[in-house]
Amino acid sequence: MEEETLTAEEERRRRKSAARRRRRGERKSQWLLRQWRGSELMEIMVVKPVMVVVVLKKRRREKEKVAEIGRKTDLKIPNRVKEPQEIKKLSCLAMETTPSESSSTPSTTVPKKKQGLGWNPLSLPPINNLTCIVTGSTSGIGLQIARQLAESGAHVVMAVRNTKAAHDLIHKWQSEWTGLGLPLNIEVMELDLLSLESVSRFAEVWNARMGPLHVLINNAGIFSIRGPQKFSKDGYEEHMQVNHLAPALLSILLLPSLIRGSPSRIINVNSVMHYVGFVDTEDMNVISGKRKYTSLVGYTGSKLAQVMFSSVLHRRLPAESGISVLCVSPGVVQTNVARDLPKIVQAGYHLIPYFIFNAQEGSRSALFSATDPQIPEYCELLKSDDWPVCAFISQDCRPTNPSEEAHNIDTAYEVWEKTLEMIGLPSDAIEKLIEGEEVRCRYGDRQE
Ligand SMILES: NC(=O)c1ccc[n+]([C@@H]2O[C@H](COP(=O)([O-])OP(=O)(O)OC[C@H]3O[C@@H](n4cnc5c(N)ncnc54)[C@H](OP(=O)(O)O)[C@@H]3O)[C@@H](O)[C@H]2O)c1
Repeated sequence: MEEETLTAEEERRRRKSAARRRRRGERKSQWLLRQWRGSELMEIMVVKPVMVVVVLKKRRREKEKVAEIGRKTDLKIPNRVKEPQEIKKLSCLAMETTPSESSSTPSTTVPKKKQGLGWNPLSLPPINNLTCIVTGSTSGIGLQIARQLAESGAHVVMAVRNTKAAHDLIHKWQSEWTGLGLPLNIEVMELDLLSLESVSRFAEVWNARMGPLHVLINNAGIFSIRGPQKFSKDGYEEHMQVNHLAPALLSILLLPSLIRGSPSRIINVNSVMHYVGFVDTEDMNVISGKRKYTSLVGYTGSKLAQVMFSSVLHRRLPAESGISVLCVSPGVVQTNVARDLPKIVQAGYHLIPYFIFNAQEGSRSALFSATDPQIPEYCELLKSDDWPVCAFISQDCRPTNPSEEAHNIDTAYEVWEKTLEMIGLPSDAIEKLIEGEEVRCRYGDRQE
């Protein structure tokens, strides 16, 4: 009897706890359901993983596509541009020779640990018969380009806004060069890229000399890190004007001199940052509010616009003009461009010099593109193969592929047309200049 009461009691307890567990389970599942419906859990467990899978798949497809495009370019490289092995050999030679033996004298000693990076300074072929214009040559990469070209015998024109600084530099270089060869053939001309009128005036004065121009290096650029949005007196966002519009106007207005100097080259010091750039031809000044302006948006957009414009220019210039158009990446270089970075980041720059180029190392891709004898043939091959973009030379002097967006031909042509409109040139400016006809620019007087 007692046993029976115990079992009934146990049974009652068991049922009670089962009911409690069920209620708890129900509450839990209801909570889960609420979370699910409230989409938090749904987002964490379903939406996000699905998004990750979709994005990864898209990236993979893009990567494969770019690799395919890259392979296509690579096929053309070995025969036309020095292979890495050859470059390495060259670099070893450059490092083994003493300053007086080398065609270009090292302006600074190469730190031992950096020899692993190779070929610094880049050994240049004889260039005594070249006339080169280098914009923004009072500091950083441009300064090194101008100095090394001049020390290798070229006639160099420093196109700068601070002419006094340029004259001071020439004075210093000449005195350091004394006894090493003929005096450097180098001069200064004023150019302020924040004024399209100044660009037009510069081109007018240069073209009036009726001399040849062999190399135009559009190096000057700005990256006003964390700075507010600013506009030039021409009404354009400053990054867009200095990094893209003004160099574009300069390149086109100097075409008559570049044709006289043919085979000649236009080299744009660009950046890998164009990979994250976006250009909206309806909103070149980034004022519509569709995108929030930051200096990064301004800088990357201007660099992408330059690659796109250069690609169309490269395609529009007929082979007979003998003008090659290239973009180059200098790498991450410690220059004044970092002056606006927070102090702590600048200190970091000093702590990790091994991974960051100095200005001389950063000048190699532009110097290589300006002087390597195989560059014109390589550019021509890209053109005859209907390659959609111009040559893009990487920081280690190898042909590389610009961003996927740079391959967007429709946008590139939109950028081309919009740019011509903004710099005040007619849409048939190239064709007219090639034919030797006059072209009027809104920002200046009559051009040749
Ligand atoms: N440093 C890097 O890590 C890096 C990376 C990728 C690409 N780049 C590109 O490399 C190029 C050279 O930059 P950098 O690093 O050598 O910088 P930098 O030391 O600041 O030199 C920039 C040069 O451009 C000139 N400049 C600026 N605004 C000008 C204007 N309105 N008119 C005429 N000249 C002007 C400057 O002249 P002032 O001295 O008068 O200001 C200076 O000579 C730029 O196009 C930059 O975007 C640099």
